Amino acid sequence: MLNIFKKNNSPIRLDQVGVDMHSHLIPGIDDGVGSLEESVESAKLLYNIGYKHVITTPHIMADYYPNTPEIIKNGLAEVQKAVKEANIPITIDAAAEYYLDYTFYENFKKENLLPINDKFLLFELSFLNPPQILNEMIFKIQTAGFVPILAHPERYSYWFRDFQKFRDLKDRGVWLQANINSFANEYGVPTRKLAEKLAREGLIDLLGSDFHRIQHIQSMQKALTNNHLKNLISSGQLKNYMLAPE
Ligand SMILES: [Fe+2]
Repeated sequence: MLNIFKKNNSPIRLDQVGVDMHSHLIPGIDDGVGSLEESVESAKLLYNIGYKHVITTPHIMADYYPNTPEIIKNGLAEVQKAVKEANIPITIDAAAEYYLDYTFYENFKKENLLPINDKFLLFELSFLNPPQILNEMIFKIQTAGFVPILAHPERYSYWFRDFQKFRDLKDRGVWLQANINSFANEYGVPTRKLAEKLAREGLIDLLGSDFHRIQHIQSMQKALTNNHLKNLISSGQLKNYMLAPE
């Protein structure tokens, strides 16, 4: 009998995923954690569920969070220091989550970016309107030598009835990163169902916590009992390990 039909409510641990590559743990620079204490507590919670390495990814969004690599690196240094002082044995690095708008598209310069491990660029789309310049942006990112990673594809409701879109993105060389919490109805039932379908069809390259605040851990723990997510994590197909430096 297939795993998904067995009743098993125990949560899976994230040791085998190893690296979390999407979160908002630098206080005060986006809609993520609100204090250094919350950063440390979040790092501890992520360590407790199995992560050894977190690459935190503050938003860079011209209209709301005009962060720069320098702002992010300065914030990272403070978080690293606090996590070390708290004796939590987890490695914290930082990159950015880029919001696709015309500012990002037009000002795109390889040397001004903060990619993951020098090679991967995490970007997100509007939740309201389908992107107009998606293919041009993907091309630009790839021409600069980066692998584009699309954040939480399962959350863009304008694609709920357009599953082929995800195959097209994969064909273009885009990696798809699902949020763990999508498997716990954090963002509604259609998002959970789409995440499960993407997992079943083998289209998810990466899992991210997209951790914003400590309350987030509750739906993460719930998601970690979802059999579709458990099968994905056990499948060995996730590429999170490729994002950490050797
Ligand atoms: Fe995010």
